[in-house]
Amino acid sequence: MNFETLLYEVDGRVATVTINRPDKLNALNSRVIEELGHVVKEIEDDKNVKAVVVTGAGEKAFVAGADISEMLNLDPGAGLKFARGGQAVFSAIENSPKPFIAAVNGFALGGGTELAMACDFVYASEKAKFGQPEINLGIIPGFGGTQRLPRLIGRARAKELMLTGDMIGADEAYRLGLVNKVLPPAEVLAAAKATAAKIAGKGAIAIASILDAVNRGVDASMDEGLSVERDQFATLFSTHDKQEGMAAFLEKRPAKFEDR
Ligand code: COA
Repeated sequence: MNFETLLYEVDGRVATVTINRPDKLNALNSRVIEELGHVVKEIEDDKNVKAVVVTGAGEKAFVAGADISEMLNLDPGAGLKFARGGQAVFSAIENSPKPFIAAVNGFALGGGTELAMACDFVYASEKAKFGQPEINLGIIPGFGGTQRLPRLIGRARAKELMLTGDMIGADEAYRLGLVNKVLPPAEVLAAAKATAAKIAGKGAIAIASILDAVNRGVDASMDEGLSVERDQFATLFSTHDKQEGMAAFLEKRPAKFEDR
């Protein structure tokens, strides 16, 4: 796949999507959003790809937000369209049956923090900076920040970050639960790819079931969430991977999952 604003590569069963506008700190313009939508769809349709890493080109930024020069002249109608497009793509990432790991290599501001939160989890460079600085531009987060941030780090902390527009470092993001691991800059992408490759060795149906049960369960009641879990658990007993996984354990050999 060839894109104007993204790099896309597949190594084994792991795809890497790199937002590639380093001269603009990988800011998200409407072209990036459109191309991200295409790549997420392609990934979903490609049976060979089992896990995905998302990162930013260059050493400075993951994504420094939505493209301010493009937003400058938007009216409310165009603003609504832009937010709708960004929200749809980030929801597609969040709800994908394949895991997305954000490898945050530098600034992740505004849409950058929002993109990282739409991924299933985040590894960050020690140099990474997170924040929702939209208030400094007279606007608010529009790609899911007002909703995902409080769910992830709690209402009060999310409100403080969004109301001040302050940036936080990787250690603080780790403390708040925004980031799973903080790594030296040279190691973050490799670590994310290694974890993606480890997950890619599991069965695709079980992977998708975990993602679906967690995603649907977190916004539901405990009873509804347990019901989703139960249904997914039961369905897996019809799979070849379940037979193989259990047989492999009992035969003391590594399982060889076939995603069926
Ligand atoms: N939209 C459009 N362009 C952006 C951008 C954004 N969100 N973030 C950075 N850029 C561009 C700059 O305009 C500059 O372009 P130029 O070289 O053509 O002038 C280039 O990327 C480099 O950025 P610069 O600001 O010179 O780098 P810096 O090291 O001085 O500062 C940041 C880095 C991240 C602190 C600063 O770029 C910044 O605050 N960006 C905006 C963050 C933001 O508000 N995001 C939320 C948007 S809703």
